[in-house]
Amino acid sequence: MHIAVLMGGWSAEREVSLMSGNGIADALELLGHRVTRIDMDRNVAARLAEAAPDLVFNALHGSPGEDGSIQGLMDIMGLRYTHSGLATSVIAIDKVLTKQAVVPQGVPMPGGRIVASEDLYIADPLPRPYVLKPVNEGSSVGVAIVTEGGNYGHPISREAMGPWQEFDQLLAEPYVRGRELTTAVLGDKALGVTELRPKSGWYDYDAKYTEGMTEHIFPAPVPDEITEACKALALRAHELLGCKGCSRADFRWDDERGVEGLFLLEVNTQPGMTPLSLVPEQARHLGISYPELVQAIVDEAMK
Ligand code: DAL
Ligand code: MG
Repeated sequence: MHIAVLMGGWSAEREVSLMSGNGIADALELLGHRVTRIDMDRNVAARLAEAAPDLVFNALHGSPGEDGSIQGLMDIMGLRYTHSGLATSVIAIDKVLTKQAVVPQGVPMPGGRIVASEDLYIADPLPRPYVLKPVNEGSSVGVAIVTEGGNYGHPISREAMGPWQEFDQLLAEPYVRGRELTTAVLGDKALGVTELRPKSGWYDYDAKYTEGMTEHIFPAPVPDEITEACKALALRAHELLGCKGCSRADFRWDDERGVEGLFLLEVNTQPGMTPLSLVPEQARHLGISYPELVQAIVDEAMK
């Protein structure tokens, strides 16, 4: 098969996407496919048309790439591609739209409210501790935990607004104390639950992509009830949003509150495929090698 691997682009997660995309492209070559690597630029439509692949493996993260825009272009061009389609991508990249889609259907997510970045000069939008995040970024780009006594990210002062000024809207959510869990969905199966224990206490961009900065524990040492709840909620959210192929649901679990303390934070429709990424790791624990995972995602897209 001739497969174009679409990666890079100009989102805040460009570097992560290049790592995912090159890993995927290497695996596809190993599997005997003909591969065209495309670092997305403004000329992407012409480059896709010229390549005329049987399938596009979407290895983009963030916006654009994970947000429906490239999916819409590929729909119009009549190209088949991996992972989720346009409408799902638009909803899942936006944490507010995701809440509106899944919370009424019984998938718990933290409450929250949208704040304009300039309002942060004036007052805390929620009682501390709370989390501030861009509505539609990945890899914890622009996320800060605002605590009572200082915070892990940036104090809310005029000087510190730099990182947030580029985002018109931010989401403020109550901080869920406790533990960080994640569940991959491949096809129609939830693979399992990993617990992330960042050495710094916070699973931010550096903790995600610097080897040794986060301990990954699989299976997560949590009660069976929590494992089952994560798997059920990940599958439910995947279905409610209409995800295809592969997704990953990220959770916080307040371990003092039992299953009532479990909250979905988001669904990633283009989960990372780097050497430190969680979907490949969960697959590996289940005996699925990285090339086998890549082939399984291809097979899902060809269904
Ligand atoms: N946004 C990154 C790539 C992830 O979810 O894995
Ligand atoms: Mg994400």
